[in-house]
Amino acid sequence: MSSKLSPAIVFDPTAGLGSRDVSIRSAGPGEVEIEVRAAGVCHSDLHVVTGDWPSDRPLVLGHEAAGVVTSVGADVTSLKAGDHVVLSWFAPCRRCRRCVAGTAWLCTGTKAVANMLPDGTTAFADDQGEPLWPYLGLGAFTERLIVPEVAAVKVPDELPFSIGALLGCSVTTGIGAVVNTAGVRPGESAVVIGTGGVGLSVVMGLRLIGADPIIAVDLSAERLATARRFGATHILDGAGTDVAAWCRQEFGGVDYAFEAIGSPKVIGTLPAMLTSGGAAVLVGMAATGATASFDPFDLADQGKRILGCNYGSSIGEIDIPKLARLYLAGQLPLDDLVGRTRPLHEAAAAFDDLRSNTGVRTILEP
Ligand SMILES: NC(=O)c1ccc[n+]([C@@H]2O[C@H](COP(=O)([O-])OP(=O)(O)OC[C@H]3O[C@@H](n4cnc5c(N)ncnc54)[C@H](O)[C@@H]3O)[C@@H](O)[C@H]2O)c1
Ligand SMILES: [Zn+2]
Ligand SMILES: [Zn+2]
Repeated sequence: MSSKLSPAIVFDPTAGLGSRDVSIRSAGPGEVEIEVRAAGVCHSDLHVVTGDWPSDRPLVLGHEAAGVVTSVGADVTSLKAGDHVVLSWFAPCRRCRRCVAGTAWLCTGTKAVANMLPDGTTAFADDQGEPLWPYLGLGAFTERLIVPEVAAVKVPDELPFSIGALLGCSVTTGIGAVVNTAGVRPGESAVVIGTGGVGLSVVMGLRLIGADPIIAVDLSAERLATARRFGATHILDGAGTDVAAWCRQEFGGVDYAFEAIGSPKVIGTLPAMLTSGGAAVLVGMAATGATASFDPFDLADQGKRILGCNYGSSIGEIDIPKLARLYLAGQLPLDDLVGRTRPLHEAAAAFDDLRSNTGVRTILEP
């Protein structure tokens, strides 16, 4: 066990959100140690803090991050100390039927979503030696962490760490939702409800592939102005508009309706926005146990589809380097998705940034 203690942002089911001193053990076989350089604050961290997704154990939060490899364990072949990496929060097992079939985003063997390393353990301990668990297998709101080799994706050194962090979750999820999950084609129409970090990335993906029209809906005028810059052709205030009626009246319904909030109420309105054969894409994640309702006759009669979307149906090792190349080639306006940069100890204020629905993605720097 490393004797050095570092601050980490921890959600404890009894004590709530706070900073704790943590140590990490050294990298074991198949693992790498990472020095975190930038970590984005995603609503999936906030879901834990608000209790939408209850946890029975203390978690080191943070799952959208980039950094540098500081050491590698035995049998690690694809990485070495000094490599720049983006962390992938859905570390696939590479052995289950889904992984073998090439659909690793549906991996049934991963322990990441149970907030553990692949062997069911954690590398973090508090100053009393008690375990603290890595949220989504990472726990990136700290200085150093241990991840399996498959969760650290090498990217070019010239990629800024803040951009790399966004590639770890929101951008890969949002663009992947368009390109992989939905397979939107040039000229097809889409509405995006909720334009935070994930929804803005959906808008960016729609622009990238040439969708038209691209309708963005949010409650925040500032977020909608950003959506317009990222390629939205129409912007609507979600509070003052019946979005489904508007989409039907203006376009006879749209081909795709992306939800990037996690609101069961909004999700229930998606099918009515679609033209026949259209698809609703559920990118936002609702609270555990929440249910949404639809008109099943409309779905059956009109051949409408509902598509679930985990991590943009992406494979980290393939999609993250691809998006990094697109950014470096000037094809993705990711600099405009980087909002305030705060030191790690301002994590609580960073969650307030997220709750306020203003600005864009806040980045924490250890
Ligand atoms: N599918 C995945 O793999 C995946 C990955 C990352 C995040 N997520 C989920 O995506 C969702 C969005 O994450 P984020 O980080 O972009 O959140 P965010 O808080 O940055 O953005 C949410 C946006 O929704 C808007 N909004 C809220 N209620 C609305 C309403 N009724 N109508 C219109 N707009 C409304 C807010 O103003 C805000 O701009 C969360 O549920 C998160 O957990 C899913
Ligand atoms: Zn996320
Ligand atoms: Zn698997």
